[in-house]
Amino acid sequence: MLTGKHILLGVTGGIAAYKSALLVREFVRAGAEVQVVMTPSATQFVTPLTFATLSRRDVIIEMFPPSPDQPTSQWTKHIDLGVWADCMIIAPATANTIAKIATGMADNFLTSLVLALRGPLVVAPTMDVDMYTNTATQHNIGVLRSRGVHIVEPEAGELASGLSGPGRLPDTPVLIEAVKNVLKGTAKDLAGRRILVTAGPTQEPIDPVRYLGNRSSGKMGFAVASAAASRGAAVTLIAGPVALATPPGVQRVDVHTAREMADAVSGHFGACDALVMSAAVADFAPASPADSKIKREALGTERFVIECVKNPDILRTAGEMRTHQVLVGFALETDNGLEHARKKRAGKKLDLIVLNDPRVDGAAFGSETNVVTLIGSDDKPEPLPRMPKLDVAHRILDRVLQLLPAAR
Ligand SMILES: Cc1cc2nc3c(=O)[nH]c(=O)nc-3n(C[C@H](O)[C@H](O)[C@H](O)COP(=O)(O)O)c2cc1C
Repeated sequence: MLTGKHILLGVTGGIAAYKSALLVREFVRAGAEVQVVMTPSATQFVTPLTFATLSRRDVIIEMFPPSPDQPTSQWTKHIDLGVWADCMIIAPATANTIAKIATGMADNFLTSLVLALRGPLVVAPTMDVDMYTNTATQHNIGVLRSRGVHIVEPEAGELASGLSGPGRLPDTPVLIEAVKNVLKGTAKDLAGRRILVTAGPTQEPIDPVRYLGNRSSGKMGFAVASAAASRGAAVTLIAGPVALATPPGVQRVDVHTAREMADAVSGHFGACDALVMSAAVADFAPASPADSKIKREALGTERFVIECVKNPDILRTAGEMRTHQVLVGFALETDNGLEHARKKRAGKKLDLIVLNDPRVDGAAFGSETNVVTLIGSDDKPEPLPRMPKLDVAHRILDRVLQLLPAAR
């Protein structure tokens, strides 16, 4: 995927700049052409010679050529490179450079290049925990995200300052994966496909105020919807009650209960090519929810029993209704995960099941990352390392793409 690709690597003045040397090496090993661009501050941390040697190209730092005798054709390199690049990644990205990009500043070569960039941009914010959580930085990151910049979330852990928290540059494979995913987006390999995704929890009313629910954040399903749309698919996202923004280009249908979700899936299933069922649908719902709030005094005794009925099994129904659709389900298991997931996949006639355990580090509810194992119809587990949910989403979609019949 990286062979022959033109990658711009922006390096800014953060303590993690030395790690970018490994990134250059891995891009070059994978067959990419890498042009490194540094901010003047970055040269305080690593010498340009290191990057020039690894990338086999001169590193660009200065906006203006050192000698006025240089041919004028070399004076607009920021424009030329903006056209040349298939993708640009800034890793590490300082709070300062992120702020400049968010406001459209172009006061050095790197920020000028970002403005002239035609292709996609990946940014890996890397800084001390207080700089990262600062309202201004979070706002600026949000601005970039809203413009379609792919943000690679920093990892939490011990930082160079001795403090602890989010701010660390993720390992090289995570950054490479992010670039590959962005390149997949430009390839639009899911164009012409219709993907139906469910996400989030369901809420089953006990009365107008209370409900039975679960801890699903919806982030995994929203990541699948976002990744599929970026790869050109027409995406319908059926979302339980979550406070997440609709990914660009995605058609969203909001539901509350399992029954509403079942109805919405039935309504859209016939027209889709693949269903990715990542919602955590409640298995049971109160049999007769009260029309008005149940008063504490009205309960009478110390015990309050809620009688529940089984909710519809959306995946099983989809398995029975399927004509040509690829079916993907999730299995959230805390014990004997592989065994249960295999059983669920076979029982519900799924093409792929995504197994995860919320107790594993990096796979907790609401986390930005996930640790999953993919199991297809050959029953062979493909365990994936901990990675951002968006990258997990792309891996799931890679498998979906293989399962879809060849495009007509
Ligand atoms: C030792 C040291 C480490 C630093 N590490 C970071 C960092 O990891 N992230 C960050 O945003 N700023 C860091 N800074 C501050 C930036 O270097 C400073 O904001 C600079 O203006 C960034 O310039 P640039 O964005 O043009 O590269 C560090 C500064 C020093 C002295």
